[in-house]
Amino acid sequence: MHKVQDDRIISSHWQEEDGIAETSIRPLRLADYIGQERVKENISIFIAAARERGESLDHVLLSGPPGLGKTTLASIVAAELGNPIRKTSGPAIERPGDLAAILTNLEPGEILFIDEIHRLNRSVEEIMYPAMEDYVIDIIIGKGPAARTLRLDLPPFTLIGATTRPGLLSSPLRDRFGINCRLNFYSVEELTNIILRAAGILGLTIDEVGAQAIGQRSRGTPRVANRLLKRVRDYALVKGDGTINQVMAEQALKMLEIDEYGLDNMDRMILDAIIYKFGGGPVGLETLAAAVSEENDTLTDVYEPYLLKLGFIQKTPRGRVATEHAYRHLGYPVQENIEASLFEDEGE
Ligand code: ADE
Repeated sequence: MHKVQDDRIISSHWQEEDGIAETSIRPLRLADYIGQERVKENISIFIAAARERGESLDHVLLSGPPGLGKTTLASIVAAELGNPIRKTSGPAIERPGDLAAILTNLEPGEILFIDEIHRLNRSVEEIMYPAMEDYVIDIIIGKGPAARTLRLDLPPFTLIGATTRPGLLSSPLRDRFGINCRLNFYSVEELTNIILRAAGILGLTIDEVGAQAIGQRSRGTPRVANRLLKRVRDYALVKGDGTINQVMAEQALKMLEIDEYGLDNMDRMILDAIIYKFGGGPVGLETLAAAVSEENDTLTDVYEPYLLKLGFIQKTPRGRVATEHAYRHLGYPVQENIEASLFEDEGE
């Protein structure tokens, strides 16, 4: 799996520690998966129909910000169908031959999960088209005028592609997914329930208000929620008797410099840069990324979706703009007021 070097506690990227704990608290069946109600309903209907017809499930595209449970959902689909799943990622499949090897080794009905499918390279993608459409691949043997194509039949399979950037998918690839599901940020209530469920599995003592305090600061993201839960657990163990309540949760998260919206120092640095260095914006992605020493992709995939959701920034054709809400949150005077006061000064 592709991993971005990013070990912030509220990062929604996969981290080493998640692997161990996530496997035990990760829901295994659709009934245990909290939230994403519309996605669950759609998927359960398509699974039931595929089962009834005795056919493989249509290809599924799961899109949405990192950490919302795309991989988990793919494993659940496989479990519900009772079929095996093979997981890989776009950047891991470097050459057409790599994909051909994977495809020809699938079992009938197997799920092929490709994370970050928008990062598949074009030559690999082209192998995928006939594979998805007709369960065949065309392999070119030899070079130059003597080259021949050999058509190989594949077992029926289901491709589940996951992407944080559906807009980067080529249209021929996007059009070949029969089922298209967009995962959205979770509500505080859903995150609270996810935290209560995980706490139960981990054997922790937690009250609902404590879970809610963590849920509220989890950026709408279960992966973040589970990670914060573990940090609060440690804090509660050292500073109290291990019981997680509102006070413990709030103190622990304050210590981690996570504010009441779940923003950390990096988020605040981004907002601060837009407001202070770039006069509130608009500022282009690359300029902003350079100002905060962050990768363009990390800014777009990880930070921006949540700042946009909270209404702290807006994207305009000319770049990112900080909203009034951001000015207030960081304690700056609101922009209109600055302009108004300048105007008043001029008038005097
Ligand atoms: N853990 C991570 N994501 C989850 C979800 N959607 N429901 C329950 N537990 C989860």
